[in-house]
Amino acid sequence: MFGKKKTKPSIDQEQLALIKAAEKRIAQKKRLYIHFVIFLIGAVFLILANTVLGIGKDLKIFGLDWFVIAIILWLFVFVYHFVSVFITHKFMGKDWEDQQREALVAKQQERIDQLTQEYLKEEKEIAKSQAYNQILDNEITSQKKTPDLTIIVAAGEQNAIGKDNDLIWHLSDDLKRFKALTNGHHIIMGRKTFESFKKPLPNRTHIVITRQNGYKVPEGVIVVNSLDDAIDAARHDKQPFIIGGGEIYKQSMLLADKIELTRVHSSFENADTFFPEIDPLQWKEINRVTHDADENHAYAFSFITYLRK
Ligand SMILES: NC(=O)c1ccc[n+]([C@@H]2O[C@H](COP(=O)([O-])OP(=O)(O)OC[C@H]3O[C@@H](n4cnc5c(N)ncnc54)[C@H](OP(=O)(O)O)[C@@H]3O)[C@@H](O)[C@H]2O)c1
Repeated sequence: MFGKKKTKPSIDQEQLALIKAAEKRIAQKKRLYIHFVIFLIGAVFLILANTVLGIGKDLKIFGLDWFVIAIILWLFVFVYHFVSVFITHKFMGKDWEDQQREALVAKQQERIDQLTQEYLKEEKEIAKSQAYNQILDNEITSQKKTPDLTIIVAAGEQNAIGKDNDLIWHLSDDLKRFKALTNGHHIIMGRKTFESFKKPLPNRTHIVITRQNGYKVPEGVIVVNSLDDAIDAARHDKQPFIIGGGEIYKQSMLLADKIELTRVHSSFENADTFFPEIDPLQWKEINRVTHDADENHAYAFSFITYLRK
């Protein structure tokens, strides 16, 4: 119990197999040698049995004494034994098996290498086509007419947006938000809304829609004859804005991706221009910030963002 730990023999499996094969081989050769000795003694015994002891003296097979036939048969058996130990062994023995196994493994390895090459080649092709598709996707995206077309509007509770080609309220924080959101972007508007401005708004690209030919505008303002052309003119802008008025909003509702609505919490009975109804089946509200009335704002209002469903 308290004795020394037994140390395990450190011969590995391969060495063990070699030793076993060598032992087997020695035993085979030993058996052949014993067979040879027995054959010699046996042959002498058969000769003596016939010639000295006279056993089967008159027995002849194919004209030969029986012991000659017996010795010849035994010799055949011995030759067969000899051949199996020294010749057949070379082809069917352990070395031969190992050689065959190695050849097979080499063949399989060659096939594996070939398949690996084919797989790598295919992977390259797939990567290439993925990169190609990515380029194509990017191109399509850059060609998309309305990357994030946004309607921006301020409307009363019954959707009133204007009267006599002007706004009905003055809400400075709403104007500030309008300026902040549209700053640096394309703003698309109907001819009447454009004319409601004293002058073009700074740092924005104005696109004015009119059916008139030769409509005169200050330098830098783009004039188009349809809403489609207006959207096309703004295609390089990631977020062009539709800024009104009533006619243009109505035509844009099916095209826009987003609505930035300032809901003014009051009714304006005398309005003459209106924003279309926002269909809750088509639009989902994603953000709302409320703003109370105060000394600078005659009405309370809410900034509400809708995304197309
Ligand atoms: N509350 C708000 O957020 C807000 C925002 C913007 C405007 N507004 C108000 O809205 C009112 C103006 O709106 P509105 O509806 O009277 O006019 P609008 O939409 O601004 O402009 C209408 C004009 O646009 C042109 N147009 C419209 N559709 C067209 C098309 N498919 N192809 C070519 N041209 C087209 C026409 O110009 P031509 O006649 O020259 O052909 C048409 O007369 C104003 O009271 C303004 O203050 C309010």
